[in-house]
Amino acid sequence: MRAGMEYQYFGFKFRKKLIFILVILLLYIHAGQTKTDGSNVDHKCGDNLCINGDCIDGNCTCYAGWKGPSCQLCGGRVRLTEPEGVITHGIGNYSIDMQCTWLIDGADNRTIQLYVDDFATECGWDHVYIYDGDSVYSNLLAVYSGMVQLDKFATHNLTSLEAKSGSAYVHFYSDAAYNMTGFKITYKYHSCPSISSALNCSGNGACDPESGLCTCNAGWGGRACSEPHCPRDCSGHGECDQQRHRCRCHRGYRGSDCSQLEEEGFWELLPPSPYPPSKYVPAGRASHAAIIKGDSIWLFGGESFTPTAFVVKYDINAFL
Ligand SMILES: *[C@@H]1O[C@H](CO)[C@@H](O)[C@H](O)[C@H]1NC(C)=O
Ligand SMILES: *[C@@H]1O[C@H](CO)[C@@H](O)[C@H](O)[C@H]1NC(C)=O
Ligand SMILES: *[C@@H]1O[C@H](CO)[C@@H](O)[C@H](O)[C@H]1NC(C)=O
Ligand SMILES: *[C@@H]1O[C@H](CO)[C@@H](O)[C@H](O)[C@H]1NC(C)=O
Ligand SMILES: *[C@@H]1O[C@H](CO)[C@@H](O)[C@H](O)[C@H]1NC(C)=O
Ligand SMILES: *[C@@H]1O[C@H](CO)[C@@H](O)[C@H](O)[C@H]1NC(C)=O
Repeated sequence: MRAGMEYQYFGFKFRKKLIFILVILLLYIHAGQTKTDGSNVDHKCGDNLCINGDCIDGNCTCYAGWKGPSCQLCGGRVRLTEPEGVITHGIGNYSIDMQCTWLIDGADNRTIQLYVDDFATECGWDHVYIYDGDSVYSNLLAVYSGMVQLDKFATHNLTSLEAKSGSAYVHFYSDAAYNMTGFKITYKYHSCPSISSALNCSGNGACDPESGLCTCNAGWGGRACSEPHCPRDCSGHGECDQQRHRCRCHRGYRGSDCSQLEEEGFWELLPPSPYPPSKYVPAGRASHAAIIKGDSIWLFGGESFTPTAFVVKYDINAFL
């Protein structure tokens, strides 16, 4: 009986030690993983580093959604259930012939914000598709290809995408030639529209995480508070109308910032009016061509995962 108690006593001590060792081990693994961008860069594995995988007998065994000798590139399909995370092609330039798919799932009825923080792919050939739903048959929110803005490959002034169905489906495809610096897309459940994942409401407003709505500071508008009421102070060709929240241009000048000469023709942003219910709404597409002729916009070709018309004609005046 005494011996048994002693045995139990030692057993307890041993377990305590074991728990202590486990905690240290976990802390160590955690510290390793959080060094850069959540990647475990310290782990040498044979001739390679093992960035998104475990080193097993000198070979790197990748976690789901990763590929390559160092598990440094995305590959295959992965389901993301955390309320926030990063979707990226990987570390360094992406490679040829890549296909990666992410399903962000588990948001229930909450809106998922997707912030495109960096983007550079081969224009017209390497694409990222983003759907509001759990497959390529859901609503296409956006397709990105090329450089969103050429400023050290960082994007600016691009409002986040909102997936309202409770899930989002992201697909990256690269063709058999050329590679570039790739992309970083951050997603979050409880957040508001913004031009960057690092800013609430583009830095020009306050976010209510429950409703997902921004309250913009004075002088700013738009869902993401990214649109100044009077851009470029109306370019010296107009005054800022504080009541109507826009520039009042001097005679002969047009555009939201009064920078365009009326006599040369001009572009103007129209307030969006709700589309009338339509039997036929063409599916989203990428890499299409478009021309404006008279009062019509003609759209040709392009790529889409769902069958859609080859030519679509829009009437510019139809929804005014
Ligand atoms: C590790 O990779 C080498 C070369 O591909 C292979 O020969 C070896 O069997 C692998 N070891 C394990 C444990 O998978
Ligand atoms: C990217 O392309 C360059 C030039 O063709 C090549 O040397 C490099 O290995 C490629 N990088 C990857 C990650 O495939
Ligand atoms: C999501 O919304 C539907 C319909 O409004 C509701 O029936 C369901 O309970 C909601 N789910 C959650 C998890 O809130
Ligand atoms: C784009 O965003 C940057 C940084 O927020 C800002 O400085 C710049 O004025 C914006 N450009 C336009 C055209 O809105
Ligand atoms: C990586 O991509 C950038 C452009 O995004 C390109 O200028 C550079 O040459 C690429 N590096 C390699 C090794 O291909
Ligand atoms: C954005 O707002 C949320 C909630 O108000 C806050 O928790 C978070 O720290 C803010 N983020 C930034 C980058 O300011």
